[in-house]
Amino acid sequence: MDRRDFIDGSAKTVCGTTVGLIAGMQAPFAFAADAKPKTYASALLVNAQGDPIKAASLKPRTNYIFHYPFESTPVFLLDLGKPVPGKSLQAADKSSYTWPGGVGKGKSLVAFSAICAHKLVYPTPQLSFISFRAGKSLDPTKHGAEENLIHCCADHSQYDPAQGAQVLRGPAPQPLCAVLLKHDPKTDTLTAYATLGGELFDEFFKKYEAKLSIEVGSKAKNAVAAKTTLKELEQFCRNTIKC
Ligand code: FES
Repeated sequence: MDRRDFIDGSAKTVCGTTVGLIAGMQAPFAFAADAKPKTYASALLVNAQGDPIKAASLKPRTNYIFHYPFESTPVFLLDLGKPVPGKSLQAADKSSYTWPGGVGKGKSLVAFSAICAHKLVYPTPQLSFISFRAGKSLDPTKHGAEENLIHCCADHSQYDPAQGAQVLRGPAPQPLCAVLLKHDPKTDTLTAYATLGGELFDEFFKKYEAKLSIEVGSKAKNAVAAKTTLKELEQFCRNTIKC
């Protein structure tokens, strides 16, 4: 399938509701006044057997995928292997927000929508043009020589997950929308509970309505409820494009 079959549209919407904390969970960061996370139903990250994922079991600098806040909207989970501080960012409509940084014991776990902010390319079970790269681009003269970026090969937007998925290169008009996680230090489990930044779900559903109905079925727009399954991208997707 040609990559152009996947791409079109642009980035606009910003999340809207201030969020509270779940009792007993670790508060990673005090949100600044301009921050406006949008809460959704909390979803515990589980493995294919339905057992809670332990944060300590995650491999550093490895692509993991789960779906949140809807059954068909993919999210990258990354352990960057080092503490990640918060950062002030701006969405395409000039709204500012403060991304809270990494969570977990090492403050190294981050999550971002895997829907590219340029033309909404996203990972499917068949193909992925967008992923985290622990190594350098295959052609650094064209695509930049830095490591540890999320790279979309459709038009070479590059996002820095250590800076709230800020855009470093390429045509994307805003950072990837952040997905906020809470880490429970007692159980070492992770729960997704909100988004922060420029959401693109309305545009995504509009663009891919027919495709999603085939890939995911009638539940594509359903909110994730209670649990969401985490997989390595290499297990989720048969063909991860490198560039
Ligand atoms: S869709 Fe154009 S850079 Fe990702």
